[in-house]
Amino acid sequence: MLRKFATSFRGSSCLFARQSLKRKLCAEAAAGAAIVGRDFLSLKDFTQDEIKHLLWVSSDLKARIKQNGEILRPLEGKTLGMIFEKRSTRTRVSTEVGMAVLGGHAVFLTNDDIHLGVNESLRDTANVLSNYVDVLLARVYKHSDLDELASHASIPIVNGLSEVYHPLQILADLQTLQERFGSLHGLTVSWVGDGNNVLHSLMIGCSKMGMHVRVATPDGYKPNPTVIQQAEIIGNKTGATLYLTDDPRDAVRGAQCIVTDTWISMGQEEEAKQRLKAFEGYQVTSQLCELASRDWCFLHCLPRHQEEVSDEVFYSDRSLVFPEAENRKWTVMAVLLSLIQQHCPLTTKPTF
Ligand code: CP
Ligand code: NVA
Repeated sequence: MLRKFATSFRGSSCLFARQSLKRKLCAEAAAGAAIVGRDFLSLKDFTQDEIKHLLWVSSDLKARIKQNGEILRPLEGKTLGMIFEKRSTRTRVSTEVGMAVLGGHAVFLTNDDIHLGVNESLRDTANVLSNYVDVLLARVYKHSDLDELASHASIPIVNGLSEVYHPLQILADLQTLQERFGSLHGLTVSWVGDGNNVLHSLMIGCSKMGMHVRVATPDGYKPNPTVIQQAEIIGNKTGATLYLTDDPRDAVRGAQCIVTDTWISMGQEEEAKQRLKAFEGYQVTSQLCELASRDWCFLHCLPRHQEEVSDEVFYSDRSLVFPEAENRKWTVMAVLLSLIQQHCPLTTKPTF
């Protein structure tokens, strides 16, 4: 695993002063230390312990800043570059605000602001920005562009969404489900919709955490075979299972969570007509949700359109879409902080 810069221990909380907690803290410190300086391109690159650590950092920041009103400034003097080739509300605002809340500064850059893709290569851009900012988040069309940036940058690169993965979204989803159910292992999550980037990260994230995933996609819109294989290999180790079908009713049976996303991702606008036809019968409705577990909930990364989920479900008390959107802020803060320097949480570790 390529580490972009040396691990540093910051803050007196990392001194492991209490002997009785030493062994436990050392295990946690190892997970935290292993994350510093890495790229965050897909959850497949992170171990279960590392994902748990990120989720713990996120819940720690949420408890201390939101509930306790603490002012934390661990990223004072640190800067983040944000390259966006596509639109964004949540990713942009949660990241920019999250960086400011932690005392750092973010610079938002679109294709209209910098030379990238017009008359400067990814390689040169990565080399230049590595000397300006401490970490770089990019939302791109081609995942290979993230790989290219990562291979040339000397700073961590964060995937803010590509056509293959959306790992920041799934960290927030995992936190939301942990908050709702008290743990993650063994939960069943159903996806009804397109075999897209959000589903790919959901498959990887859930399989890492020992959760079962049941997917309904129409023929021709199945998830990427490589990602299916990755999820199955991970699941063999964690006890997670993956079930694929083209029947939404079959997919939601027994599920604690039903998830969907737009049927027309950014960049697919020209396929809108044929996609709307292909996804007929895939709307998440109250009737469909009756087949799920009695304690079912609903997630959607947003933005949402009425064709993929009825108002009745989307605005129901089972819908966690707005807490989920809020958790985008705490989880991206956890990722940025943990890539830049080690953070030792002070609050109790959640159960996963
Ligand atoms: N869910 C999500 O990534 O939303 P944005 O496109 O608004 O960032
Ligand atoms: N699948 C959607 C997610 C948006 C957050 C897209 O790629 O446009």
